[in-house]
Amino acid sequence: MIDRIQSLLREVEEMKVANADEIEALRIKYLSKKGEISQLMNDFRHVAADRKKEVGQRLNQLKERALQRINELRDTFTDAQTIDVDMDLTRTAYPVRLGTRHPLSIVKKEICDIFGRLGFSIAEGPEVEDDWHVFSSLNFAQDHPARDMQDTFFIRHNPDILLRTHTSSVQTRVMEKTQPPVRIICPGRVYRHEAISYRAHCFFHQVEALYVDKDVSFADLRQVLLFFAKELFGQDTKIRLRPSYFPFTEPSAEMDISCNLCGGKGCPFCKHTGWVEILGCGMVHPHVLDNCGIDGKVYSGYALGMGIERITNLKYQVKDLRMFSENDVRFLRQFESAN
Ligand code: DAH
Repeated sequence: MIDRIQSLLREVEEMKVANADEIEALRIKYLSKKGEISQLMNDFRHVAADRKKEVGQRLNQLKERALQRINELRDTFTDAQTIDVDMDLTRTAYPVRLGTRHPLSIVKKEICDIFGRLGFSIAEGPEVEDDWHVFSSLNFAQDHPARDMQDTFFIRHNPDILLRTHTSSVQTRVMEKTQPPVRIICPGRVYRHEAISYRAHCFFHQVEALYVDKDVSFADLRQVLLFFAKELFGQDTKIRLRPSYFPFTEPSAEMDISCNLCGGKGCPFCKHTGWVEILGCGMVHPHVLDNCGIDGKVYSGYALGMGIERITNLKYQVKDLRMFSENDVRFLRQFESAN
């Protein structure tokens, strides 16, 4: 019996395989119920009592060793297999999924490009601003409701330092440093103290445009607005100007475009009016020009401002404003083709 154990041990040590099926065949040959080692275990009861101890020990060693070898073979075999695959240098690379531009960036770029084609250059200003640039220079009376704590985030209870509530502050910053002609477009983030819901957020984005020169008229403004609306929403788009009020423009207006969903026929989106509001505009108030060191009797200008989220909603029908800041890739990937 000892001889048989010895010869099986040798066989076990020398086991070689070419694939996973062969490992299984060896396991069956040696370790299954009817396998060689199990047979020896059965024969063990015929071993003379005084030899049982030695033979038993050897038999157990054989069984353990066989198990160990089978497991080793399994390990080396799977390792070898994965290494083989990894080492295939001719394999095609995994596709790299590119990121996408954020929808707000896509629309911002489109707006800036349209004004860029009209000769406007981009200007930027700080998001943490002072009262002068956001309110006072723009003709907001000291008790104007827009200065209210409800709307404005102030920094450390200092009533002079605040997060800008609109990008009109960049108008002042540029005009203070530049004499006309001034022709700028100012994209940027703005902040307002609003309860967050599907239609309002405490921060959003605006684009402001400003043109100051000699003899700038409301007709110039209207023509630029029409060009802009057609470029952004299609050549069939119509515009309509409604009188409005902003402290920094006189006269002021709000612009509607013919609803881009129903073409102006009336639908739930435009509340069956055929029109949707997209921006505020007007002739720069002479006080504002004077406040910035530009002679309001010599120069005139127009300004306009719009919310990028609003325009993006009109273009892509995003129902919930919060989607823009949640970074959910399932939402963002939908804009892959618009990049
Ligand atoms: N600043 C205004 C707002 O935040 C938008 C605006 C309206 C900007 C009229 C302008 C303008 O330049 O002329 O609601």
